[in-house]
Amino acid sequence: MASGNGSNFEALVEAGARQLLPAQVVSLVVNNPGCGASQRAERLGIGVTCLNHRSFASRDSLDGALVDHFQAVGVDLVVMAGWMRIVTSRLIRAYPERLVNIHPSLLPSFRGVDAIGQALAAGVRLSGCTAHLVSEEVDAGRILAQAAVPVVPGDNHATLARRIQAQEHRILPLAVGLAAERLGLLHSQP
Ligand code: GAR
Repeated sequence: MASGNGSNFEALVEAGARQLLPAQVVSLVVNNPGCGASQRAERLGIGVTCLNHRSFASRDSLDGALVDHFQAVGVDLVVMAGWMRIVTSRLIRAYPERLVNIHPSLLPSFRGVDAIGQALAAGVRLSGCTAHLVSEEVDAGRILAQAAVPVVPGDNHATLARRIQAQEHRILPLAVGLAAERLGLLHSQP
């Protein structure tokens, strides 16, 4: 699931292709037609489905369509790789322990919207990213992996985001592997 540029989505596809992650990305869902993630999927040969949130009456109905889609494709795990919508219990309960999110802060600091802006405003000298399981409370599920980066003098939103995202691309595949291992998904092959 992605809403924007899609660099984390591509990192997952690459990790799967290079066998750094014992999983394959089989489907991408975007909510913004033509977004960077969607273009990357076309280039990488991954099927893209657009579920535009503007066409749904509620968060719940959007999440119902997401669940229908993932069940039709038959996925084991779902990753929110830059999904900029709050998800509801409809999706969370359909994929218990199977829904992974990447967030650009060292949780539990700076939950919610614009975590990078929050970190800059707070003047912290250390920031980072967290890959975690999704629970009903926003950005509060079990932490799977984290990476820290320094905030350096002169940093702005773009420079800090770039430093954090380089680490996201490393820890998100790691966290997906950990989530799969916890579920016993990696031992099912003969
Ligand atoms: C990532 O930095 C991710 O942590 C953030 O959106 C960016 C997506 O980048 N997600 C959130 O802020 C969710 N609350 P990408 O589209 O290049 O992967």
